[in-house]
Amino acid sequence: MAQSPLTGKLYAAPGNPGVAEHAEIVALELTDHAAVVTFCETQRVGLIVVGPEAPLVDGLTDSLRAAGFSVFGPSRAAAQLEGSKGFTKDLCERAGIPTAGYVRAKSLAEARAALTRFGAPVVIKADGLAAGKGVVVAMTMAEAEAAVDDMFDGAFGSAGAEVVIEEFMTGEEASFFALTDGATIVSFGSAQDHKRVGDGDVGPNTGGMGAYSPARVLTGELEAQVLSRIVAPTVKAMADEGMPYSGVLYAGLMLTEEGPKLIEYNARFGDPECQVLMMRLESDLVELLLACADNKLSSIESPRFSPDVAMTVVMAANGYPGTPDKGGRIDHIPAAEATGARVFHAGTALSGDGVLSANGGRVLNVTARGASVKEARDRAYVAVDAISFPTGFCRRDIGWREIEREEAEQG
Ligand code: AMP
Ligand code: GLY
Repeated sequence: MAQSPLTGKLYAAPGNPGVAEHAEIVALELTDHAAVVTFCETQRVGLIVVGPEAPLVDGLTDSLRAAGFSVFGPSRAAAQLEGSKGFTKDLCERAGIPTAGYVRAKSLAEARAALTRFGAPVVIKADGLAAGKGVVVAMTMAEAEAAVDDMFDGAFGSAGAEVVIEEFMTGEEASFFALTDGATIVSFGSAQDHKRVGDGDVGPNTGGMGAYSPARVLTGELEAQVLSRIVAPTVKAMADEGMPYSGVLYAGLMLTEEGPKLIEYNARFGDPECQVLMMRLESDLVELLLACADNKLSSIESPRFSPDVAMTVVMAANGYPGTPDKGGRIDHIPAAEATGARVFHAGTALSGDGVLSANGGRVLNVTARGASVKEARDRAYVAVDAISFPTGFCRRDIGWREIEREEAEQG
């Protein structure tokens, strides 16, 4: 956004030391809608982008729109597409959108009965927001029973007061992004994420340990199917039901033998998917976001992306996705960026004496471009290796599926 000629002054809340290089950080409590509105009125803000899921589900966009601002991001009602897995499954059923069979369960007894119906393997999801960690893919009935017991025991707080039990789908996963103002829909590219914490896709799920874009496995033909069978019917159903969806719609997909099926929606750009999309975007981001906010998406040019591949490798603090070690020192980011990579900050903090340290689970996103996934990967890891972060770790195999395909193509 800072790169756009349309941007005069940029503010961010809460931001981090990386964002602070491009925007003025303001201390705003995002749950205090009146305070956010007052700040935006005082500064005469021309566009507000509500990024993460928590303020979206909390309806911050509604409060800002009611005050007359141009706002990018779905309303509280529309953000239910991310905020409630049960809501999304019911909408898919009403609109005939391909997705896994499911049952919503509000009690342990209902959940246990549903498990018997599906048999293992089966997928158990907390209904509400759980930072990407509220899903258990159970390979055995014993695991499945333990997962529902946990969820009704409060493992995910109020997010787990209701669970969705789903049929297990098999296939490769890919993510597709669309921008919409509620009527017009434009493709915003694809990516592939690596959710498991460990190399080889093992260990617990995380918010994402790395990603690359584009995901070539989502061919033009498949992308057209995703648009016509999944995204467009969703946007239409939301509008028809009085909850028009405006913002970015992130479709998590399973590419099954029967065609692409929806795993879940996110109401935001995805982390770390956003990082790779932004590295490839050639259009003016602010122009696009403003057009979504002002219902003018049909009157501007569709987003253009570089044909290059972008890859991002997440450096996380030891302990993540459990309790991360905070406070570990980070050095040599300028050396990493001198290789041509970009290092986006996530959970970092800067002390008074200028020392950067880890302040959360996922800490840095080391991002590079290349003509192939392999080239982007090699560049990203050269930059990773330039960084000193002794209390952190990263996966070493981001992009492995696509690299195997590239190698197979080259014989
Ligand atoms: P979600 O948070 O809904 O994207 O789920 C997290 C991860 O769990 C997905 O990326 C998939 O790897 C897996 N998953 C979710 N739902 C299913 C399903 N119905 N069948 C197989 N795997 C699933
Ligand atoms: N990386 C997955 C997400 O942002 O939900």
